[in-house]
Amino acid sequence: MKLEKSSRFSACPGPVVTIVLDGVGISPREDGDAVKAARTPTLDRLMASYPMTQLLAHGKAVGMPSDDDMGNSEVGHNAMGAGRVFAQGAKLVAESIASGHLWQGQAWHDVVATAKQGGTLHFLGLFSDGNVHSHIDHLKAMLEQAKAEGVAKARVHILLDGRDVGETSALDYVDPFEAYLDGLRSTEFDVAIASGGGRMSITMDRYEADWSMVKRGWDIHVRAEGRQFSSAHEAIETYRNEAHVIDQDLPGFVIAKDGQPLGPIVDGDAVVFFNFRGDRSIEISRAFVEEEFAPFERGPLPKVTYAGMMQYDGDTKLPPRFLVEPPAIDRTLGEYLAQNGVSQYAISETQKYGHVTYFWNGNRSGKFDDTLETYVEILSDVVPFEQRPWMKCAEITDALIEAIRSGKHRYLRVNYANGDMVGHTGNFEAAVTAMQGLDLQLARLIPVILAANGTAIITADHGNADEMYELDKKGNVTRTAEGRTKAKTSHTLNPVPFVLVSADVNLGYKLRQDLPAAGLSNLAATTLNLLGFEAPADYDASLIEAV
Ligand code: 3PG
Ligand code: CO
Repeated sequence: MKLEKSSRFSACPGPVVTIVLDGVGISPREDGDAVKAARTPTLDRLMASYPMTQLLAHGKAVGMPSDDDMGNSEVGHNAMGAGRVFAQGAKLVAESIASGHLWQGQAWHDVVATAKQGGTLHFLGLFSDGNVHSHIDHLKAMLEQAKAEGVAKARVHILLDGRDVGETSALDYVDPFEAYLDGLRSTEFDVAIASGGGRMSITMDRYEADWSMVKRGWDIHVRAEGRQFSSAHEAIETYRNEAHVIDQDLPGFVIAKDGQPLGPIVDGDAVVFFNFRGDRSIEISRAFVEEEFAPFERGPLPKVTYAGMMQYDGDTKLPPRFLVEPPAIDRTLGEYLAQNGVSQYAISETQKYGHVTYFWNGNRSGKFDDTLETYVEILSDVVPFEQRPWMKCAEITDALIEAIRSGKHRYLRVNYANGDMVGHTGNFEAAVTAMQGLDLQLARLIPVILAANGTAIITADHGNADEMYELDKKGNVTRTAEGRTKAKTSHTLNPVPFVLVSADVNLGYKLRQDLPAAGLSNLAATTLNLLGFEAPADYDASLIEAV
């Protein structure tokens, strides 16, 4: 994995720093754009005075099945870190189902065989068509196949979304699904929803930010301990009537008949966790598969056949049983740099820590070379982020500035979570504050990079804060007769900025103008050129050319 020294580009004398403003896209409109509404003098100045272009961060440009698919952090950081576009989980699972490959695999055989020996087949996962972590069509295909293969009893545990889809859209999924189950149910096939809750309230924690979420999910799905309802519809309506709460935050519920839960998970059952994306699948998978387990009290561990939709961590091989091979992301930027003796530093706060490490390195949790890599996690607040829209951006900047000044790291990367995590709350004012907090950090950080003779790449993994109101099919903001907008919590289809900030007036390079469809995967080759290397031949093109 030797990198060739470039004869065209001289290495930047100081550090090269990639600054990922998570969830900060470029919207074509002003309405509902918290990025434009915020007062961001530093970002504005940088965009106006340094080479800048836009990068595609959604759809096929990041390995999603279609250009109607918005970008997300996994596919975005994978593309940035790998320098190439790989077919991603959403696409691989859909293809595996369409070709029938999934049903031929050992994992599917194992879960079906377990169910046919008398166990219940449970499906647990994010219940929407967001296609970021999961897709409801995958769930349906598996239910139909299970029925066709003679499984007698299936239970579905639904994590309500409202974060990758409309913020109060849960019933748009639940009601048609109940009708669908009515059609599927027969004397030979007993199928029902057994439990559920909002995805940010139970089960889908990530990066160990808040294990109590996973415990609440475990208690609901596995132990069937929680408030009982006769249907998911009733649970959702009741919770909504009791308090103003959006789908992602709905408390957990257990579906029961005459006080008897419909689907606790017990010895001899099979469980399919049907999310394909790993960050929010790892903790619950660990709870199911680890014999020794410290994060919370599980009670007796049921002996189940557990399968993930994918293997979520390539280093720890978690979970051991999985339905679809994950994308084989190899020879990442991080690995090349490690193999060529280039020191690296990665930092973010908990909520995005794995984005600049695990996702960046092709869904591997470990380092390539301990002696050359420094990874820093600043602990995130455990609060609704609209209450603390500045999050930990100042603390991240403190540490990053120190790291740059130390002179120890040749290549540094940082993810600021604000645009995305606050964008997901749907709170416009908070998103504006988030952006203003970020701008203050750029005002502190950029002079330090320049003083070190370094180069900063300012970019983002996908949009979010750039569209805080729901749009209609034509792309206009939806307004009620009274002029009210509806909050939008999900990501966007918009491109993201690429700003190249460098101290050197005689750069020796300029932005290429012949890459109109450039995307996030073009960043890795660019970074290598800035560090004075030629990129590997199969990496997507660099955004700069020598002059
Ligand atoms: C989440 O997991 O929070 C959202 O589904 C996607 O957000 P991310 O891709 O920005 O992490
Ligand atoms: Co997001």
